[in-house]
Amino acid sequence: MFTKNKQALPTDIDPDNVPQHVAIIMDGNGRWAKKRLMPRVAGHKAGMENVKVITKAASRMGVKVLTLYAFSTENWKRPNDEVHYLMQLPVDFFGAFMPELIAENVQVQVMGNLEALPAKTQQAARDAMADTAQNTGMILNFALNYGSRDEIQQAVQQIAKDAVSGKIEPESIDDDLISQYLMTGFLGQYADPELLIRTSGEERISNFLLWQIAYSELVFVDEFWPDFTPTVFEQSILIYQHRNRRFGGLK
Ligand code: FPP
Repeated sequence: MFTKNKQALPTDIDPDNVPQHVAIIMDGNGRWAKKRLMPRVAGHKAGMENVKVITKAASRMGVKVLTLYAFSTENWKRPNDEVHYLMQLPVDFFGAFMPELIAENVQVQVMGNLEALPAKTQQAARDAMADTAQNTGMILNFALNYGSRDEIQQAVQQIAKDAVSGKIEPESIDDDLISQYLMTGFLGQYADPELLIRTSGEERISNFLLWQIAYSELVFVDEFWPDFTPTVFEQSILIYQHRNRRFGGLK
């Protein structure tokens, strides 16, 4: 576990070995709130504030893509009030933080089944992407109403359609082509995260980026998402930098 590794780590990050794409499962908002005898949505609000903090930290460390799991295709199972609150978060987040995101030169992207979101959430996502489209810095990529099996299903359907129509040859279906058809396809060479972090002590993937994390380093930290500070983030990067990545070969 992370806390056991923490003490042994040196303090400086190698700037030449910062993961280019970091993906985060932002878990533990509800437990963070419960610990403080607050309603669950207070945890989501604190989580939203932390998105801004970690976005800046990632951008300043030289991360190229930060993908955040904000709402999964399974999160609709939550009580209506909570779902309603979560759907309002992008509206509030982009409403409040857009000037800072622009000042930070961050480009916002939103991937997932966006058509199924309430109109106001879709609009907030579209506006954020349009307002930051000219920015050339880090891509802040929200996974919103995203599920990896849903993503793979859509990609397979589209590949099948394109094969039937003659647009692609079945023999041309390889790793690269499949990557292009997934929702992360627009990220090109950065589509696969080098590092996946999950907060809150849970150690599962929960239908996130199943194809893309084939060779990602997984780091599970104990802190709830609102407590995931830039320091804990840096420590996670240090853990990544001390991993021996072999991609199935020998070092
Ligand atoms: C998981 O914690 C968290 C979520 C389902 C929502 C994550 C959303 C945010 C952090 C805010 C996103 C911000 C924007 C701008 C879209 P949980 O509620 O499952 O926590 P628990 O496991 O302790 O109950």
